[in-house]
This record gives sequence, structure tokens and C-alpha cells, in this order.
Amino acid sequence: MCGIIGLISEQEFTLKEAFMKLKKLEYRGYDSFGYYDTEILIKKTGHIDIPRKNKKSKIAILHTRWATHGGVTDYNAHPHQSCDKNITIVHNGIIENYQELKDDLIKRGHKFRSETDSEVVAHYFEEKLKTKSIKESCVDFINEIKGTFAVLLIKKDENRIYALKRDSPLVLGICNNKNILASDIYAFSDISDEAIFFENDEFAIVEKDNYMFFDQHGKKINKKIQKFLWEQEESEKKKFRHYMIKEIMEEPKVVKRLLFSFKTEQKSNFNKFIELIKKSKKILFIAAGTSYHASLLGVYYLHECGIEAQTLIASEFRHFATIDKETIVIAVTQSGETMDVIDGLKYAQKKRAKIISIVNVPYSTIQRMSEVSLNILAGQEVCVAATKSFVNQVTILLAIAKEFGFKINLDTLAPRIESMLKQENKIKKIAAEIYMKNDIYVLGRGLSYPVAREVALKIKEISYIHAEGMMGGELKHGTIALIEKGTPVIALISNKDYDMLSNAKEVEARGANVIKVANELNGDINVPTSNDGKFGVLAAIFGQLLTYHMALERNLPIDKPRNLAKSVTVK
Ligand code: G6P
Repeated sequence: MCGIIGLISEQEFTLKEAFMKLKKLEYRGYDSFGYYDTEILIKKTGHIDIPRKNKKSKIAILHTRWATHGGVTDYNAHPHQSCDKNITIVHNGIIENYQELKDDLIKRGHKFRSETDSEVVAHYFEEKLKTKSIKESCVDFINEIKGTFAVLLIKKDENRIYALKRDSPLVLGICNNKNILASDIYAFSDISDEAIFFENDEFAIVEKDNYMFFDQHGKKINKKIQKFLWEQEESEKKKFRHYMIKEIMEEPKVVKRLLFSFKTEQKSNFNKFIELIKKSKKILFIAAGTSYHASLLGVYYLHECGIEAQTLIASEFRHFATIDKETIVIAVTQSGETMDVIDGLKYAQKKRAKIISIVNVPYSTIQRMSEVSLNILAGQEVCVAATKSFVNQVTILLAIAKEFGFKINLDTLAPRIESMLKQENKIKKIAAEIYMKNDIYVLGRGLSYPVAREVALKIKEISYIHAEGMMGGELKHGTIALIEKGTPVIALISNKDYDMLSNAKEVEARGANVIKVANELNGDINVPTSNDGKFGVLAAIFGQLLTYHMALERNLPIDKPRNLAKSVTVK
């Protein structure tokens, strides 16, 4: 949530070049954006609009916002400045004690221009600098601020960027003749594969050809440069209208790449992963959103092999998890930065549980918190809605379950996905029939229940249609009251699941327009597999294509749906 960038370079860069970097982080939030380079300050609402000005600079900080404190207005857009405009900051995170600090700063004569928590950071430094050095002020900031932050700060008369971090992600990209500070590696992964990751309560002073890191006491620390491996996907949409469809079409390719990695570069980590699961007394997944649905499928697959496992939604983890040192907690996450997941993992760490993870973004916080982590290898996913990363998460979980006896031939997964994708036109027709409806129900049982929830989530986030993904068996306990003549109900029926078929009949008898997504019987969509494991993946892909085409019909901003962000770094 919120993306920040700091650029400091030997050579001048153009405004356009700086904004192109910010664009790479736009998936983190797109309520407003801003730029500051010691001469000009830009703050605007809406999606990032690259200024036409022919302006060059050697230093700049930029921000793309997902609003938390304060509405979506130009004033609330970052960067924020101190009263004397000597200090300019961008911030990702939440300053929890901002009201207390703000009241105090107001008493001292500071004038605030926005409603954000972030603006206090600029005034805080302005006030501190009256009596202290900037380095001392950074130490005080880390010790006095409650909450989470990745802050970049420019002092007008200096040619350097100050960077401070707690809980919100921050990384320094080491590039030729320049240093780039950013919320994640996407901002510079096209020009460098070397980075230094900030740990909590560290700060750095970054110059064009130099950087120094400090701990919370102001003691200089040596940090390791990490070389990161990143499957850089073609970042242009090219022939595709949207990233969403481009990323769906990449699914066969990323599945093949992932499965190959288990025989090669990920072989040893994969084996360690399995060993740790085998040694543990209790298996608990933790995840949010789409990743939660993948983990629920994982639980199902393990359960099929007689392995007891559970999954919990990350934001409720603390309230429902009973863990001890013999528990293994498996985090499933695309971004590796979801704050709710991090929070749950911190709780698990306190209880001395082992933490392992399945993560798409290498070196992300969750990967660094894990004893072993498997890379999802889906490459960058630009569309806010997860598609190919979900498919690869499930593929990893199938590969794990296979080690415990789950019957599946994973070599045919990619070709089956290709066949599923070939049904796009058929799915498009279904989309054209139902895209004007107000409510859609998606029913599943057993393995198709998590998929039903995932399909409904996709419909909500991308097509803006209210959808409920639910257990077929639970329908009769209430929701069936909402079924009217013509209500679309998508029934996911794997291997002639008779109970599921009965649930479909029950709604059909009440006039619902039932769309059958099935394998072993003649459905509206035939899923090309007889394997339950593959059915889960393929039925979810049906949902991805359906949602995409409904959103197209409704002319919606598919890659950047309103109010959402891809990386959710607030609780
Ligand atoms: C956000 C995204 C979802 C994603 C969820 C969990 O809500 O919009 O697409 O599933 O976060 O994210 P993670 O990165 O942990 O998988």
C-alpha cells in the first residue's frame, strides 16, 4: 500500500524517467501521486499522469498513494513539507501516535495543510532540527514514533536522501552511477539485480555514489548486498488490452517454469520444505485474499492424503490460532509484504513456531522471516487481481501434496491449462449473458469450495458484481432464500459429485440460471481433466476469464479496480 521511490544520481534524469519508475509501483495504490526534486513539487489525485515538462534533476522522491488517513485530495497527496519547506517527505505506513504529535507541533506553531498522519513527519523533523542534527533526529524518530513507516526525506540544502524503515518495506537498489530507494525491487529490477534490504528500525543516508546504514541508536552498520534472481516478464502489454488477460495467458508458461525449478534450482529448498512439514506436529497455513483460497486448496489436498492441516485468514490469525514450537506455519503470499500475514507470523514467532513460506516476490519481508521459502516464480504480476500467481501457488501445494501421496501427474497440468484457455470464446458468451446481473452465486463442495470463493472474489474485485462463493451444502441453510428466477448460479462440479449436483438441482428448481462447470458430465463448460487436483486450478481459470470478460462488457478499469491495491501493507 502506497509506493515510494527515491532517486539520486550522478547524471541527470528526466521527469519522465522518474515517473516511469513510479508507474512500476502504481499497483501499490493509485488514489494520488506526487513528486519533489528540490525545485518543483507535484501533488495530484488520480492515476499517475506523466508530466510533459522537459525538466531534469539529479535527486527526487516520488509517491503513489492508497489513502488511509485523509480523503483522496491534492492536499493529502504526498510529498508533504515542513512549514519552512526545507524538509520534504514521502511515507508509506501509518504513524499511530500522529494525533498526539500533531497536537504538540501545532502548539509549537506548526501549520498543517493536510489531514494525513504522514505530514507530521515533515514537521517533526523541522522541529527536531532546531536543536539537533539530522542524524540525531532520525534516531529520535525511530525511538519516538509508534506505528509503521518507510520514509524518504530530502533536506533542501543537501544532496542526499534520508531513508527510515519499520515494518513497511524499503529497499536500496544498487545501480550504475545511481542509487534507487523503493518500496520493492520492481522499481529497479529492469536495471539492477543487486539490492540492500532494510530491516526494522534502521535508517540510511544515501548519496549518488555512497550510502551509510545505521541502527536505531545511530550506530553505523554494515549491510550485505543481495543479488536477487527475478523472472522478469515482458512488462509491456503488447498485443493484450490488459495486464490481467496477458497474465492469465502466461499461466501455462509459469507453471512449466515452476515445475522445472523443483528439479533444478529449488530442489533442495523443496526437499527441506517437505522435511520440515513431516517433522512438525501441527500444520497451519496463513494467508489473505486469493492466497487464502490457494491455501484452503492446499489443506484439502493434504487432507486427501491423511495429513491434518488448517488454514486461517491472516487478519484473524492471532485470535484463532493455537500454536507452539512444534507447529509449522506456512505463509502463502504473492507479495510477501501483506501486513496481516506479517503480523500473524510475528505472533507465531513469539510462540516459537517454525515459519516457512510460499512467496512470489523474492527477498520480500515474509521470505526473509522464513526458515525456508519456495519461490512461486510467476514473475511480476501487474494487474491488481492475482491470476497466474494463484495458479502457481496451487501448483506448489499440489507438488507438496504429491510428496504425501496425492495422486496427480503434474506434467500434464500446463497442457490442460492451455486447453482451458482455448475455451475463452465460450466463456465470453456466458459473460455476455450475465454481466448485467446484480448478484452471482458460486457453489462448490470439497475441493471446489475454495475455488467457488476464489471465483466470487474475482467477480467482486474486477467486475464489481456482488458475488458469493459458498459451500453447496450450506445454501439450504439461508442463502437459497435469495435465489429468484434468472439468478446466475455457477456450480463447480468435479467428478460427478452427486451432492454438488443435487445442490445445483435445488437452485434450478427455484428458477436459477445454473451454469455448470464440470468434468465428467456435460457442462456448460467442460473442464479438461479427470483429476481433482487439476480441476481446482482449471475451474479457477474459468472464473478468471469469466470475470475478465464481464468487466470488459462493463467497461471497467480491469487492471486497477477501484479502492484496491496489490500489496496491502496496512492492517
Ligand atoms: C490484496 C490483493 C489480492 C491478494 C491479497 C493477498 O488484497 O488485491 O489480490 O490476494 O492482497 O496478498 P498476498 O500478496 O499476500 O498474496
